[in-house]
Amino acid sequence: MNSVALTIGLLILSLFSSMTARADCSNVSDVPTSATGLWLWSRVNSNDGTTLVTYFEMLQDGERVDGHVEYSWGGAPHIEGRMQGNCLSFRLEGDLGTLYTGVIDGTKMSVTVHGPKETSQMELVRLPLGSPKYGSPATLPELSSVASNELASTPPMGWNAWNHFHDYLDDKTVREIVQSMISSGMRDAGYVYVNIDDEWSGERDITGQIQSNRNFPDMKRLAEYVHSNGMKIGLYSSPGPQTCEGHLGSLGHESADALVYASWGIDYLKYDWCSAAFVYSDSDMRQVYQRMGTALRNAGRPIVYSLCQYGKEDVWKWGGLVGGNLWRTTPDIQDKWSSVQSIWDAQKSILRFNKPGGWNDPDMLEVGNGGMSEDEYRAHFTLWAFLAAPLIAGNDPRTMSKSALDILTNKDVIAIDQDSLVSAPQELGRSKGLEVWLRELSNNEIAILLVNFDDVHERAELVWDSPRFNARDLWRHEAVTIDKNYDVELVPHTVKLLRMSRSIGVPRVVFQKAGK
Ligand code: GLA
Repeated sequence: MNSVALTIGLLILSLFSSMTARADCSNVSDVPTSATGLWLWSRVNSNDGTTLVTYFEMLQDGERVDGHVEYSWGGAPHIEGRMQGNCLSFRLEGDLGTLYTGVIDGTKMSVTVHGPKETSQMELVRLPLGSPKYGSPATLPELSSVASNELASTPPMGWNAWNHFHDYLDDKTVREIVQSMISSGMRDAGYVYVNIDDEWSGERDITGQIQSNRNFPDMKRLAEYVHSNGMKIGLYSSPGPQTCEGHLGSLGHESADALVYASWGIDYLKYDWCSAAFVYSDSDMRQVYQRMGTALRNAGRPIVYSLCQYGKEDVWKWGGLVGGNLWRTTPDIQDKWSSVQSIWDAQKSILRFNKPGGWNDPDMLEVGNGGMSEDEYRAHFTLWAFLAAPLIAGNDPRTMSKSALDILTNKDVIAIDQDSLVSAPQELGRSKGLEVWLRELSNNEIAILLVNFDDVHERAELVWDSPRFNARDLWRHEAVTIDKNYDVELVPHTVKLLRMSRSIGVPRVVFQKAGK
């Protein structure tokens, strides 16, 4: 296309989009109106009756409007808009497929959101620019080391609601999940923590004490129920004013909240950065997490402390010093193979930071959630176990398939995860997407892992000097006799996991052409 045609094309496109915007501004008046202000979008969350709040900050210059939104999860996309009379049309950076048109009437703006699939409505209220939005940042402590809570000597195992239930969960469902974890054998396989994620907090009462929302009428009684079933219970919060889903965070209430958790009988806290991004800078993170670490240590109850800040600021170097028992090393997992692979790759340079009491956390498991094949879930679980990652199931144990249960409760693989030696895996070889790894185990044994990330078959031969010996195949649950050579061909996205005596020595890896 030549440049004249391109210019004409762009002109037609911009004329068309401005006409669309105008067409959607149904109440345009010619009275010049300003969009400048701090616009508050406050609404009731129908899931739990709590109030959610989002700010849009806007500044108008001529017809042009610029600004940003502050989402509770910490994102602040740029607003780019155009004012015509009393009608503002705008789009958000990163979501150009959605058009917002707002009609301003004094301190109110009625916004229609024209999404690619549906249209919705937002009612905003104008506050003066510069109005206080969130509480003040907490006073940050001098850097120091929080004394160990002596918990999580092996990677924590349990279940968490988020990957399957997202923003809706209730007391009844948690009790059902406890029962299904018991009857399925998950609890006895080691999954003892039952963790409620971003679904539980309500408002603060008049004294400032945090309350659970209407879906959790009595958190203390729920904790008692979980304990009476031989399990432990976890909650979730944020150092910011809001959790990622917009529920109440702990900003300025860290010690009080830790005391409440302890009084309820809570055993585990996942503490998620989210909106803390709007009151602190990333470089404050260690002190911010230390503040809650200290509060938990002083709360009078041992509480596992799970840091969730997506691997920012090299958390593996200081997560243990703030009292953390595990720290997220990457952004959120997704229920797809490419996510498993990218998280695995991201762990390779930080393997040595794992230690009893303080674990790299590559995020919760997706096994059983439906986005991957059975082979892929088996591989996902194996990789996490090989890393000695926390094994926090993220499915619905009430409805899980036999295949998901068999994966999650493979005791041989869990034993690799929980092995007391906590030795960092070593890579023995890699060719295309086929990787071969070794991990030293207690009891003078080793585990050998082969994983095929490719979409085609891959093959490798492991060669030992030792004559005939036995290994154990941890997915076939059988002994394998190896006579110097072990030739493995892996179909796409599968693993082979073997356990054997260390005295046999380390194999050489010879990559071969796959037969298929
Ligand atoms: C973040 C965390 C997730 C989950 C959600 C809840 O995205 O990384 O694990 O806790 O928040 O809102």
